[in-house]
Amino acid sequence: MISVAILGFGVVGSGSAELIESHKEKIKKYVGQEVRVKYILDLREFPNHPLGDRVVHDYNIILSDPEIKIVAEMMGGAHPAYDFSLAALKAKKNVVTSNKEVVATFGTELVKTARENGVAYMFEASVGGGIPLLTPLSNSLAANNITSIAGILNGTTNYILTRMLGGGKTFDAALSEAQEKGYAEKNPDADVLGIDACRKICILCALSCGVLPNPKEVYCDGITKISLTDVHDAEKYGASVKLIGKFSVADGGVYISVRPRFVPYSSPLARVDDVFNAALVNGDYVGDTMFFGRGAGKEATASAVVGDVLDIARHIDAPTPAYAFEDAKCGFIKDHKDEKQKFYLRFETDHFTDPSVSILEEYLPKIEWSSKVKSVHKTVSVVVSETTENELAPIIAKLETMGLALQSMIAVL
Ligand code: HSE
Repeated sequence: MISVAILGFGVVGSGSAELIESHKEKIKKYVGQEVRVKYILDLREFPNHPLGDRVVHDYNIILSDPEIKIVAEMMGGAHPAYDFSLAALKAKKNVVTSNKEVVATFGTELVKTARENGVAYMFEASVGGGIPLLTPLSNSLAANNITSIAGILNGTTNYILTRMLGGGKTFDAALSEAQEKGYAEKNPDADVLGIDACRKICILCALSCGVLPNPKEVYCDGITKISLTDVHDAEKYGASVKLIGKFSVADGGVYISVRPRFVPYSSPLARVDDVFNAALVNGDYVGDTMFFGRGAGKEATASAVVGDVLDIARHIDAPTPAYAFEDAKCGFIKDHKDEKQKFYLRFETDHFTDPSVSILEEYLPKIEWSSKVKSVHKTVSVVVSETTENELAPIIAKLETMGLALQSMIAVL
């Protein structure tokens, strides 16, 4: 029998414990022996839960119990989740986590500690909820040089955007729905400001390139500034607006960002709606390959956590080595303002109507699409061919002096 300790009995922790219990016969056949939840660490009591008798409040009980081979951390937040994970690895216990904040912040140290102690540190559930993504990246695609990943990596924001556009909900109502369904982080700022997606793209970059960017150094913009005008222009252009985490390998480093983007309908990411997440992975041999599924929620995330638990349990005497990655080196992250891409630009003007397009044509890179000038609202929108933010900056400043004030700038995927 293999004994597991669950740290944190919230949405994902309780889902994982319940999955291990409810599927115990199937699990026993797969692993070759029984897997049981021996302890649940939480500050609260759960007297009415069938597993309420496993609750303990002192982490030392878990650390000092030699029967505990796997610690599944689902506490959320950086501390004490990181400290407990480090202590477990040093005590030669395998650790599984869904905690992207801990992996993105302390992953290098935790992975190294796991390797030094001959145990596994696994975190499939930290990116893309229930989608098998890190395991295929590390195994099936291991021979490839991964050249880029672009993903919808936050279920809450994708749910909000979908409900606002298709369901006519306000931002606040859509966010409340996402919270009720257990998708959102405790502090929803992490979702709507892009911080959660940023941690996830950093983890994907680490697994793909062997180097973990510091999420605080990654350009990160959320969905709070998106206006309905932008969204309607996107529809006219033939695109959805999505919050995209993306990295691409170029110029001896990586361009990495989280930002809202126009996603043309020709991309499979354009139609990924609701809580669903997807990652479009490009490898030099495999080409494009797409991973899709539920990116948040109790059952989906538990599926990924327990998958890691079973992977370790199946090879308990020789656990899968932890993924290998190092902290980012100086210069590894390129300035996002030098990344070549198309941009949607929306200008407001007091005095131009039709001539504004000709003025834009004169100064901007090639215009691939433009809206009709709306003389009532006095706005004009364009999509320009590939350029960089650094190249655009002086042009935008010049246009401003001519009465064309930039209202919105959104990169096109
Ligand atoms: N708050 C996260 C999301 C949970 O909405 O995607 C899953 O990581």
